[in-house]
Amino acid sequence: MNLVVVSNRISRGKANEPMTGGLAAALLPMVEKSGAIWVGSSGQVCDGNRAEPLVEVESLGAGALALLDLPAAHYGGYYEGFANSALWPALHSRADLIRATREDYLSYREVNAFMARALLRFRKDDTAFWVQDYHFLALGAELRELGVKQPIGFFLHTPWPARALMAGVPHHRELIQAMLAYDLIGFQTEEDCENFLGYVSSELDLPVHDGIIVSQHGRTRAAVFPIGIDVEKFADFAAKASSHPEVSRLRRSLDGEKLAIGVDRLDYSKGIANRIRAFDAMWTEQPSLLRTASLLQIATPSRGAIEAYGNLQSEVAKLVSDVNGRHGEVDWTPIRYLNKGFGQTVLAGLYRTAQVGVVTPLQDGMNLVAKEYVAAQNAADPGVLVLSKFAGAANELDAALIVNPHDIDGMARTIATALTMPLVERRMRWEAMMVKLRGGTIQQWFADFVEQLQDTQFDRSAMPLMSDTPTLWPRRASGARIH
Ligand code: F6P
Repeated sequence: MNLVVVSNRISRGKANEPMTGGLAAALLPMVEKSGAIWVGSSGQVCDGNRAEPLVEVESLGAGALALLDLPAAHYGGYYEGFANSALWPALHSRADLIRATREDYLSYREVNAFMARALLRFRKDDTAFWVQDYHFLALGAELRELGVKQPIGFFLHTPWPARALMAGVPHHRELIQAMLAYDLIGFQTEEDCENFLGYVSSELDLPVHDGIIVSQHGRTRAAVFPIGIDVEKFADFAAKASSHPEVSRLRRSLDGEKLAIGVDRLDYSKGIANRIRAFDAMWTEQPSLLRTASLLQIATPSRGAIEAYGNLQSEVAKLVSDVNGRHGEVDWTPIRYLNKGFGQTVLAGLYRTAQVGVVTPLQDGMNLVAKEYVAAQNAADPGVLVLSKFAGAANELDAALIVNPHDIDGMARTIATALTMPLVERRMRWEAMMVKLRGGTIQQWFADFVEQLQDTQFDRSAMPLMSDTPTLWPRRASGARIH
């Protein structure tokens, strides 16, 4: 089989280069080993008027990277607009932050259609397409419209929220109907999958049996594939990174003091502000932890052109400075706050240096930082993971200290417990989590999805492709777009 993987963001794969987001980090080793072609945005834009989109291909291990310039006229409406100001807030249960215009939606659909045209050059008889994430909900429908009959799968890296949240997205019915052109739709957790099926049966009024949906596109299977990490590779990175200059400098600066670490994109779904408040409460309630335990919070700037992200940057920067002002000393800073990204090797070393990993999102698809923190620990003296019950990872990593990220005092007490946990309990919890990580690696995730995708392709030949409902994204019966 000739596998074509598609995502908005790609990674060129240098372990020492900063990597944005779990998706790119997870896919990279799989493309390198499987020989797949990975198609994504180059980060550049083009005028978009060419009949055939320009693609630059470079090799990546046994596979290849194909980088595409997306059309300039639609890029903002697609990325900052519909994808990250309508879908992202809805998917993370923040309906109050949904902002999208009709033009944003049309740009999102244009970019999905543009990507579909670009993918045609990679199609062979034995090709299967695997589309990643919320940027491309309608890409399967666009490929079908261009006559693609090969298997097309989709995996959502974010949560899928309760029905009412998705119903808050403008044009949600049209868009989710388009999603049903996929043969297989994968989710991180059972809850996400159930929410999706609930939406489809109640909002779209479609029959669902055993995870199979019947729609005007034919049949679609929805299933759960919790994403994992390359456990051994990450553990190896961590062991080797202890001599890395940046990691050694951190260790020296601690001078015996304990360290908690948080690593996130600067995103409102990550619960960074509540985490800072929890540390504030901990130092206020337990002054013995002043000067003996500090926090290193790495918050990589993200989507800065969107107002909600700009507001968050100011809010978190102010909170950190308030807390440091309140609890700091001439020779001690409670929170080291860094707005930059790190490569995977250094990150692995930083995780291993910290006695506590704090991963406290308000909503998160999986959160691979939680898994990486565990894999990076020293078996003889492992750290403790404090994990939000709203991260997908909490389903597997139930031996972590599970917290409610809205309960500041509860988090403060749990972080203090983690900082003082005896070695025997730390080891017991860590070993239990490692068993889970080894039982669900990124290699297994990849292989399971691809295998099910090959098994699930249904006969679509008898199914009409067009919907009878009025749409904002109109097509002619021939398949050509009207505008
Ligand atoms: O959570 C899904 C995800 O694709 C992550 O991989 C990544 O953190 C994020 O969404 C995308 O971020 P960006 O907008 O920086 O590509």
